[in-house]
Amino acid sequence: MSSPKIWTHKGTFLLAAVGSAVGLGNLWRFPYLTGENGGGAFILIYALTIAVVGIPILIAESLLGRASRKSPIMGMKYLTKSHGTSSNWQIIGWMGAVAAFIILSFYSVIAGWAIHYTGLMFSGSLSGASAETIGAAFGDLLASPGLLLTYHTLFIIASGAIVGMGIHKGIESGLRFMMPALFFILLIVLAYGIIAGDAVAAMKFLFTFNLSDLSLEGWLQAMGQSFFTLSLGMGAIMAYGAYMSSEASLTRTAIWIALVDTVIALLAGIAIFALVFGSGMEAGQGPGLMFVTLPIAFADLPGGILLGGIFFILVIGAALTSAISLVEPVAAFLVEKYGLSRPTAVGIMIFGCWLLGLVTVFSFNIWSEGTITHTLFNRSPFDVLEFVTNILMPLGGLLIALFAGWALSRDEVIREMATNDQWFKIWQFLVRFIAPTAVAFVFLRTIPQVEG
Ligand code: PHE
Ligand code: NA
Repeated sequence: MSSPKIWTHKGTFLLAAVGSAVGLGNLWRFPYLTGENGGGAFILIYALTIAVVGIPILIAESLLGRASRKSPIMGMKYLTKSHGTSSNWQIIGWMGAVAAFIILSFYSVIAGWAIHYTGLMFSGSLSGASAETIGAAFGDLLASPGLLLTYHTLFIIASGAIVGMGIHKGIESGLRFMMPALFFILLIVLAYGIIAGDAVAAMKFLFTFNLSDLSLEGWLQAMGQSFFTLSLGMGAIMAYGAYMSSEASLTRTAIWIALVDTVIALLAGIAIFALVFGSGMEAGQGPGLMFVTLPIAFADLPGGILLGGIFFILVIGAALTSAISLVEPVAAFLVEKYGLSRPTAVGIMIFGCWLLGLVTVFSFNIWSEGTITHTLFNRSPFDVLEFVTNILMPLGGLLIALFAGWALSRDEVIREMATNDQWFKIWQFLVRFIAPTAVAFVFLRTIPQVEG
């Protein structure tokens, strides 16, 4: 083997991790969860979880990647061997790969919806449309396996093409172009939301904290969201961490990733709720917030159709920079383990995800009822897939925290952290005690829901 592959610049890991973190989780999931769970109280718990659970695990996961300089599966094998710890820890790598595989399969289908809406907006077919028409348009999309499949195929091929070109020519150059562009588009949409919508109502909704608004369910969703939004527990961060410069600070980088991700979720929330409230609609619309409520607002406001199109380009781009971080860990594993060429490895990964994506595609139409998962779990096949990842992510995070906190040798951890000061001690305390307790709590509460 040649010398280990490293990002071109010291700051590239930060760029790549932010690219992974900022995605549908920020633009689609965060706003609708906040809307469903009463606004400010949800955000308070979410921010707290990011600080005491998300950031410590983010540090731990990038540490494992950089200490091994391998793909997650091979990296965990290497770390357990070189530390003489139980090979059971290797399950971290495998669980991560399974989670990444499943998540990409449905992430791609949902990102595909944004492709459809970009077309709907720019073609002008929604201008002047009534709320009913726009609501029906979403129903029509979901009812069409052909359309869903076309967009899913397009999106997953685009993700594969970028990763297939390699970590420098593909991922790095792609991100260096896409990330600033996405940020710029977000600012345009935000400015539009403030001018055309009701930003004051949006701010009030997002930043008024009333803890009694929040159910236990809301607490759990806030914690789950903090994992999803930081891309934790499935090897994405570990895979990118393997290419991280030895000089970059793990702690400082993780704090930046979490900060940027949170600020972007909040800015998106302000823009979206300003538009939604500005058109006199409600916040608690669930997953349809972005694909029904927001288009109604765009159609209702001056210049909204053009801005709506621009907004959905932002959604596609942000989803793309996340999707590539789900392709990378598995593709890198296939290259390392079987000596495949990168394009072949990527091809296998995305073909598998494409196939599994059919489950999600059909769950909205021909499999929306009467399937075996409905009989067994009272859920659609897609809901079951999503449920599985909602278990795998916290479980992966829990194991990562325990492995980095307890099983790795103190010397290695201190060498990677490049410090032994009070920050190190705080991190160690959080990763050893607080993060595992918090995650175990979420995890144990999720399991009984299997009955549906
Ligand atoms: N963090 C991404 C988002 O917020 C989703 C994601 C999860 C990406 C896990 C990669 C790995 O949309
Ligand atoms: Na995110």
